[in-house]
Amino acid sequence: MRLLTTLLLFLLLRSAEPRRGPRVGAAERGSRGRVRGRGRAGVMRRQIQECKEYMEAGEKYLDCQDRQLTTVMQDWPKDIQHLLLARNKIQVLRDNMFSQFTQLKSLDLQQNDISMVEDEAFSGLSQLTTLLLQHNRLKTASEDILLPLPRLTYLRLYDNPWSCQCSLDSLVRKLQVPSSRNLGNYAKCADPFLLTGQKLKKLRVDSLCEDDNQVDRRPGGGDGRRPRPQPNKLKPEATSMCHTYMFPKPLLDCSSKDLNHIPSELPSDIVKMDLSRNSIKHLRPKQFLLSKDLKLLNLSSNSLNHIDTAAFAGLLYLRELDLSNNSLHYFQYGVLEDLYFLRKLSLGNNPWICDYNIHYLIYWLKHHPGVSYTGLFCSEPQEFRGWRVEDYVKTYNGECPKDKQTGGTDTGQGGQGGSDNDAQEVGETGEGQGEQLPRPLKEKKPKRFEIIRLS
Ligand SMILES: *[C@@H]1O[C@H](CO)[C@@H](O)[C@H](O)[C@H]1NC(C)=O
Ligand SMILES: *[C@@H]1O[C@H](CO)[C@@H](O)[C@H](O)[C@H]1NC(C)=O
Repeated sequence: MRLLTTLLLFLLLRSAEPRRGPRVGAAERGSRGRVRGRGRAGVMRRQIQECKEYMEAGEKYLDCQDRQLTTVMQDWPKDIQHLLLARNKIQVLRDNMFSQFTQLKSLDLQQNDISMVEDEAFSGLSQLTTLLLQHNRLKTASEDILLPLPRLTYLRLYDNPWSCQCSLDSLVRKLQVPSSRNLGNYAKCADPFLLTGQKLKKLRVDSLCEDDNQVDRRPGGGDGRRPRPQPNKLKPEATSMCHTYMFPKPLLDCSSKDLNHIPSELPSDIVKMDLSRNSIKHLRPKQFLLSKDLKLLNLSSNSLNHIDTAAFAGLLYLRELDLSNNSLHYFQYGVLEDLYFLRKLSLGNNPWICDYNIHYLIYWLKHHPGVSYTGLFCSEPQEFRGWRVEDYVKTYNGECPKDKQTGGTDTGQGGQGGSDNDAQEVGETGEGQGEQLPRPLKEKKPKRFEIIRLS
């Protein structure tokens, strides 16, 4: 019964997920079924579902996510490059557990119950570049686990209850050498109390084994005197609140996490960020500054009513922005100027107010004809309710010949066409607000800028 329910649920979920179909396509459908086998059901116990095998960008993936697995199966194909095992029930990574997958480049083990990694667990994985162990129950591990992985460049260890004691010393040392730039970022100590919240990368290694001794020697075990609470725990951090997926596309999933703010420490290499269905009210300047690879940002179904100028600073390559189902009345002048390569803008289900403030948005859209947008209707004032905002602005311009004239003479389509070089420059300096305006605005009001500079 339980088996059947899980299977049904799985089928339902699959058919409800629109993105998967077109992306994986025929290859997936064609070559699955390796792990099937009612006959083996006794042996495999709960490991009911077959994994999905598919090709993407010429590499072979085996997707075994969400399958209640406790280990890997001997009959899985051995020539895969990417093994996705997120959200299973694996507790221990045993010696040689993956050694049959000699071509493996990435191994995603996040969101399991892993509390122990044997020293030879990854032996044979000489091609592995990416190892994801975040959101597990690891307290300690030795540097030895990384020895079989000469090519490892990405290692995620955060959101594990690391116990920063002497036994973690060798791993911490390994993470801190300069060549480990992308190994173990964001991982933090869960204990001892004095080190709670400290990053493994930043720990004073020399003190790890010393501190152990001190704690031991302290009369009463040091439990009696509680130091001040750790400030580190207060801010919601993306790395512990949200889930990140590396393959096939780096995605940060922070949907429905009760967030009031954009979490701090957004990973910098994320391509899609889903912050939908939270309670974020206000976007402050430069919160996405480090997310420079972001192509899709989903902020739908929040309570956004204010977006600061420069809130989108740094999002040079953003192609799609979903702001639907919020409480936006208008965009403040300049807010959209950082979005050089935007293609889709979802604005539906916001109470847009059709007064003078809305003109900036229409002006910007007019100068970025490559941006397709949806859902721009007036909700206030009463007389324009339900109007398309463009139509409202047209009537306004109709009454005001001067505005019309300005609109007519301005043929520049600049902002969008800004060359990569320009875009790069803005990204790197990122500071001067004036510099971030697209060319048509600059050309139109050169004098105004001079005055601002002088004052
Ligand atoms: C944003 O998230 C909402 C709800 O989570 C979803 O319905 C919508 O399709 C997403 N938008 C994009 C552009 O992916
Ligand atoms: C819009 O957002 C509210 C919460 O802000 C949510 O309850 C509702 O389901 C969302 N509507 C849609 C169509 O996503």
